[in-house]
Amino acid sequence: MKKLKINLKHKSYEIFYKKNLLHDFFIIDFCQKLANNFVIITHKSIKNIYAKPLFENFLKKNVKVKLLSFEDGEENKTIETKTYLEEQMLKDNFTKDSLIIAIGGGIVSDISGFIAATYMRGISYVIIPTTLLAMVDASIGGKTAVNTKYGKNLIGAIYHPKAVFIDFEVLKTLSNDEMKNGLVEMLKHALIMKAFFFYDLLKSKKITQNLIIDSLKIKKQVIEKDENEKSIRKKLNFGHSISHAIEASLNYKMVHGKALAWGILIESYLSYKMNFLSYKNFEKIYNFLKQKQLLVNHGKFSKDLIIDFLKRDKKNIFGKNRFTLLKNIGKSIINVEIIENHIVNSLALCLEVKHVSSNYYRS
Ligand SMILES: NC(=O)c1ccc[n+]([C@@H]2O[C@H](COP(=O)([O-])OP(=O)(O)OC[C@H]3O[C@@H](n4cnc5c(N)ncnc54)[C@H](O)[C@@H]3O)[C@@H](O)[C@H]2O)c1
Repeated sequence: MKKLKINLKHKSYEIFYKKNLLHDFFIIDFCQKLANNFVIITHKSIKNIYAKPLFENFLKKNVKVKLLSFEDGEENKTIETKTYLEEQMLKDNFTKDSLIIAIGGGIVSDISGFIAATYMRGISYVIIPTTLLAMVDASIGGKTAVNTKYGKNLIGAIYHPKAVFIDFEVLKTLSNDEMKNGLVEMLKHALIMKAFFFYDLLKSKKITQNLIIDSLKIKKQVIEKDENEKSIRKKLNFGHSISHAIEASLNYKMVHGKALAWGILIESYLSYKMNFLSYKNFEKIYNFLKQKQLLVNHGKFSKDLIIDFLKRDKKNIFGKNRFTLLKNIGKSIINVEIIENHIVNSLALCLEVKHVSSNYYRS
């Protein structure tokens, strides 16, 4: 079994990864060391293929186990879904001696982690990420949250899982489109920290296990240095100020990975406009997004609404937007204050463009 340890000040945990790990009793044996009762939480759409076989394996161990699921979609990452799931657990008398097993994408791990953080003042949880995005990003770092109509991920906690179990085989059923959503977070990791990883991603025709682990290692490196986002962890927010505002402005109808691709484009452009990033490097990022077809149909963006949500961004200080920007490919700078006018102009240019040629942006 291969593993990667996340070394934090007070609590460390491991990411175990292997082909077909999901069908291995290793996960169940590990969970049984943590608790006596188990709640598996998953998306409705993958309940039968992935969560049910796991549930049945738990049953074979003669333990108390419950399988809960909720509708797919960002619009369901809400306090209402959290309450619904908690009530199912309370109704069946799940006490502090219970473990949550989150099996699914980032929506499942974010909401399950938040339940674990607050259920009876805190119970343990583990994550089995089943999307590329959750494997490389959402499953580590302990950020848990739900969305609100006032903005994305505004209510939540930092609460780390006891372990993460990655089975690469589950990616075989993941759509090409969802693979692209994960690639966007991998691109973010490359842009903020590792130039060579950008070029690895650029030339690779498919996402290999090695690329997944390389991406995870970048996130590991960041959160180990700054678990609570006081400094370097803010780098991971690159692209996210804009993308979260886009998601909220569209009522969470655009998925995170797609909104993040726009967020990366616009925040890279801002990096250029603020004289941190050269035009040549901005162009490379734009061409990456274009070549990998990550800038997809964006429907009807409302600049005004995006600006409104940016004003409520949780990273604002004294009411001013603070962005993480790029100085180079693989090098980022945090806490950059940006004036509204720059943001408005960048949104106007990037969101309305037909993207014929990257020269369009040179101004
Ligand atoms: N906590 C963090 O640090 C962190 C980091 C990045 C993103 N996020 C959050 O993650 C969420 C996005 O996560 P996501 O992109 O995984 O989306 P998601 O959780 O919505 O999953 C995407 C879709 O894929 C389906 N699916 C999942 N696994 C599958 C599989 N193996 N085969 C077939 N279908 C499968 C799901 O049912 C869902 O419809 C956002 O809410 C975002 O805010 C959190």
